[in-house]
Amino acid sequence: MERIEHLPNLRARLAEWRAAGERIALVPTMGNLHQGHLTLVRAAAERADRVVASIFVNPLQFGPGEDLDAYPRTPDADRDKLAAGGCDLLFAPAVETIYPNGQTGQTRVEVPGISALFCGASRPGHFVGVATIVCKLFNMVQPDVAVFGEKDFQQLLVIRRMVEDLSIPVAIHGVETVREPDGLARSSRNAYLTAAERERAPALNRVLDEAAAAVRAGRPFVELELAACRALEAEGFAPEYFKVCRAADLASPEADERDLVILAAARLGRARLIDNRRVRR
Ligand code: PAF
Repeated sequence: MERIEHLPNLRARLAEWRAAGERIALVPTMGNLHQGHLTLVRAAAERADRVVASIFVNPLQFGPGEDLDAYPRTPDADRDKLAAGGCDLLFAPAVETIYPNGQTGQTRVEVPGISALFCGASRPGHFVGVATIVCKLFNMVQPDVAVFGEKDFQQLLVIRRMVEDLSIPVAIHGVETVREPDGLARSSRNAYLTAAERERAPALNRVLDEAAAAVRAGRPFVELELAACRALEAEGFAPEYFKVCRAADLASPEADERDLVILAAARLGRARLIDNRRVRR
């Protein structure tokens, strides 16, 4: 696997592949790779001839006081995992390559509405940072397809909306959340959990399962959301939100809405965990 840091080198290699008629898939990441990311790489390889993974911890999507500096960085292990996982090219730019002159640039990509909800409400500016970097990566790599995890369900909707609104010619493919054997969704931020918190963490997945069953049983959404928050608190979580939404746009659903997603975010010690459950009725 080739590792490239600079844009001209990246563009030269991609031009060769394109000239040979090869389809290119992009897996954007912030590194500290786990099984979830490698599943994205596999899904990418099924959809293209060449897989590019990017590793860039994007300062623009972290708010003041968030974990930008603490975010786990494991470049050597990441490189080995990608090489073994079937990635053809690792794009690992320095901050100056992405944001020259010590600035983060002036232009922003904003998907209003959906970006203000849920994670966007608790992390103001987060989705502007995500949409801007993903748009930049799309311009740099110009992939045919890009692959993202469904664990970040709201992020996936923001990216799909951006691509549609800006007519960006990239197919977006979402991949089902990869979980630990006990149900905890894989995430780089699970590393912040203490041993005792790690034992309690699967409760988030369990409470989502219970809420999904309650939705199917016709229990009122507000009632089951409150019950879920209480159940999480009993496990030591500080819930940020637990909401039944319309899957298409995260709007408040009508009682008879058929395609739903339950979104959840909760703090457990230092870790902020997010997860979701799709419910089709
Ligand atoms: O999901 C992530 O890891 C990041 O938000 C992404 C999509 C790589 C953008 O920095």
